[in-house]
Amino acid sequence: MTTRRLVLSRSAALVGAASTGLLLPEIVRAQSAKVRVGLMLPYTGTFAQLGVAIENGFRMALEESGGKLGGREVEFFKVDDESNPAKGVENASTLVQRDKVDVLVGTVHSGVQMGIQKVARDSGVLSLIPNAGAHAATRGLCAPNVFRTSFTNAQPTLALGKAMVDKGHKKAVWITWKYAAGDEAFEGFRDSYTKAGGTIVKELSLPFPNVEFQALLTEIAAIKPDAVACFFAGGGAAKFIRDYAAAGLKDKIPLYGSGFLTEGVLDAAGPAADGIVTTMHYSDSLDTPRNKAFRLAYAKAYKSQPDVYAVQGYDTGLLLIQGANAVKGDLSNKKALYAAMEGAVIDSPRGKWTMSPQHNPVQDIYLRVVKDKENKVLGVAAKALADPGTGCKMAT
Ligand code: PHB
Repeated sequence: MTTRRLVLSRSAALVGAASTGLLLPEIVRAQSAKVRVGLMLPYTGTFAQLGVAIENGFRMALEESGGKLGGREVEFFKVDDESNPAKGVENASTLVQRDKVDVLVGTVHSGVQMGIQKVARDSGVLSLIPNAGAHAATRGLCAPNVFRTSFTNAQPTLALGKAMVDKGHKKAVWITWKYAAGDEAFEGFRDSYTKAGGTIVKELSLPFPNVEFQALLTEIAAIKPDAVACFFAGGGAAKFIRDYAAAGLKDKIPLYGSGFLTEGVLDAAGPAADGIVTTMHYSDSLDTPRNKAFRLAYAKAYKSQPDVYAVQGYDTGLLLIQGANAVKGDLSNKKALYAAMEGAVIDSPRGKWTMSPQHNPVQDIYLRVVKDKENKVLGVAAKALADPGTGCKMAT
């Protein structure tokens, strides 16, 4: 069907081109066929809600620009990656080889992202990362065709340590899932907390996506640190918050986190989340016309409140739109496409941000506290924070 359509439009183009004396079938083909967008996201498991919010945000950005990319219609192809790193390469290959997508949007889980990164580097397909913070994607394994619209795992926690020491919490326990995102979030926390004069008295972890927190909470109660800092997200984060309160720790040992802890979970966590302080590149309560309009439109379209994942999906759409418009829909014009995306200023609900040379957002990190089921902004914890991009050699 697609082939036939292409042949037809190609011959029509040739007739038209012949009459004007121009022969540009490739360009005409590139502009007449639909842009094939692959969504590789988790739709099941502990990150399922995150995948849905990203897709919603992405689609909303496209809808707002007439449903088109550089004047071309869009066709979607979807894969549920289940946050399963073992299937990462296979799932990304399916979208690239079988579905022949022009752009791959994905994913949430850092381990799965490494599979996408391999396929993106091998195939050269445009890869947009709407969440996963795996450092390598914009450090040692960076690539001209890979752009991230979210964060590196250490970015939010690099702003956390000082905020905790400023509150007088000098001894902390760190707890997380044992995988790349948890380990790298710890790097940011360790660097910022120790630099501010804090001491990490214990590192605790459990395998992803386990939620049997009881033994670890008992250990925290015995250690009696000044505070606890953590990385959890999605369904597991909601349970951690509830279990922390149920274990009687909430009012004794303040809980801090990389802001994902309190994203998309405030209904599920209930009052147990009140008072949790986190650092993140977004806050529900940002008092800007841009954020307010976004939140209203999202709530209307999807009958739910947006979170940081929805914002990241939305910004992925904004970035792709800017790139596609710059090349008038001809995504095969890679040099101009990448240049436009590298130079993009994204007018995001989180605040305006730009791309670092390694293709990761340079962005403000906010200090927030949960109150009445909202992440309320307390201030800016780090201004225009860029990931160092260590080891990135961008082959152009
Ligand atoms: C990741 O695996 O990189 C990851 C997952 C969920 C988050 C943040 C980072 O909320």
